[in-house]
Amino acid sequence: MTGRPLQQRQIVVADHAGTQQCTVCHNPHSPKLNLAPVETAGPAGDPAVGKGKAAACAGCHGADGVSKNLPGPSLAGQNAAYFAEAFKAYGTGDRNNPMMSPAAQAMNAEDAGDLAAYFSGLKCEAAPASDVQAASAGQAVASKCTACHGADGRASNAAWPNLAGLSKDYLINAIKAYKGGARSNGMMAGIVKDLSDSDTESVATYYASATCK
Ligand code: HEC
Ligand code: HEC
Ligand code: HEC
Repeated sequence: MTGRPLQQRQIVVADHAGTQQCTVCHNPHSPKLNLAPVETAGPAGDPAVGKGKAAACAGCHGADGVSKNLPGPSLAGQNAAYFAEAFKAYGTGDRNNPMMSPAAQAMNAEDAGDLAAYFSGLKCEAAPASDVQAASAGQAVASKCTACHGADGRASNAAWPNLAGLSKDYLINAIKAYKGGARSNGMMAGIVKDLSDSDTESVATYYASATCK
């Protein structure tokens, strides 16, 4: 559209949004600067109480929330608001995972808050860079992700996940879960629908080699 403000980039609606409503991802009151409005305040929770409850998680997520060759992803340093929502989603069935769902079903909303407070305060530890070449290829793909997940894997909004510290395999599985429908989220579904397997692999390598801060 030639009449748009010069600093406003052009988009091709069909490629950019498909059939999704713009407000799934954009804040209608501040479309340029903010993506969709979301609750960013972390849940109320006590990290000391959460530490006690976290004993049930260590076998799959590692002591101190750093997972090395364990079935569950690292949790240390994850945003508390995202953490609590993700955790509850396994309990309600919005996310489905045979290992994780029973663990979440055994806990309530108060537990989710305490656990989120505890794990978000732990130090994120970077996954080792496994393939430097693919990581640089992934940088181009990652330009589709940085508005929300940051160039360094630190999300711009506390309700969204940090990707720094997550392993390549976990990132690939998570992306495929949004694509296949095992996880439903309007933003991610719109973003990953056209992501090829090789782009998925290289963007996962890129974020797996992000350094934790
Ligand atoms: C699936 C999420 C999603 C949906 C749906 C979506 N957008 Fe976006 N849009 C983004 C993201 C992420 C960015 C910033 C990243 C980028 O530069 O590509 C963006 C950037 C833009 C930009 C460029 C802003 C700038 O200042 O550079 C415009 C314009 C835009 N979107 C318009 C729209 C319109 C109009 C719709 C509805 C027809 C829409 N978007 C739907 C995710 C979305
Ligand atoms: C039997 C193994 C197992 C146990 C025990 C377990 N988890 Fe998980 N957890 C997983 C797996 C596997 C995933 C990844 C599931 C997926 O791909 O969606 C996961 C995912 C998660 C996620 C989502 C992470 C993200 O980045 O989206 C959170 C949060 C989480 N677990 C918290 C916990 C907490 C807190 C406990 C203890 C109360 C716990 N888990 C116990 C295996 C487990
Ligand atoms: C418009 C914002 C937005 C953009 C752009 C975006 N994401 Fe996401 N992403 C989210 C949100 C919100 C979630 C949490 C969804 C949920 O609750 O399951 C998420 C979740 C994820 C997860 C799961 C993390 C975890 O801890 O389990 C991965 C992996 C991911 N995104 C990768 C990507 C990649 C790769 C791209 C670029 C190709 C991308 N995202 C672009 C908003 C975005």
